[in-house]
Amino acid sequence: MTEFFSWSDEISVGIQEIDEQHKQLISIVNRLYNAVIYSPGQLDAIKAIMNELVQYTIIHFAVEESLFRIFGYPEYDSHKKRHEDLRRQVIDINDKIQSGEEQGSLELMTFLRKWLRNHIMIEDKRYSPFLINQGIKETWASKSWIGRIWGS
Ligand SMILES: [Fe+2]
Repeated sequence: MTEFFSWSDEISVGIQEIDEQHKQLISIVNRLYNAVIYSPGQLDAIKAIMNELVQYTIIHFAVEESLFRIFGYPEYDSHKKRHEDLRRQVIDINDKIQSGEEQGSLELMTFLRKWLRNHIMIEDKRYSPFLINQGIKETWASKSWIGRIWGS
């Protein structure tokens, strides 16, 4: 499988739980890329992976927003607003994929990689020092619920 979007320490936010969720998102984008580029006729597969990307994005943003409320993050409103924009963008793309108006392209994949990379590098790197300072646990001691649901 071609790794279109690679994980690197450069994009770590320093909180394992969040990093693992970002890795899941990156892996969904990589699977979508491989389906779009190498199996362009298999629209059912592309639609299924795209649905997964939307669902996991919604879960991930909800988790982040919960953490912001729990820890009293002062930029909660602006980050939540940014999530709403990003969520809208991925839902709009998914609507076009599901209706057949869009079938996936290199341009779309480049957009999604940038969409996810910007979320991590710009938005998330802003909150992690605050959460760590407030005492959030940076690493896990035991296996997470994500792996149990998503099979990794
Ligand atoms: Fe995030």
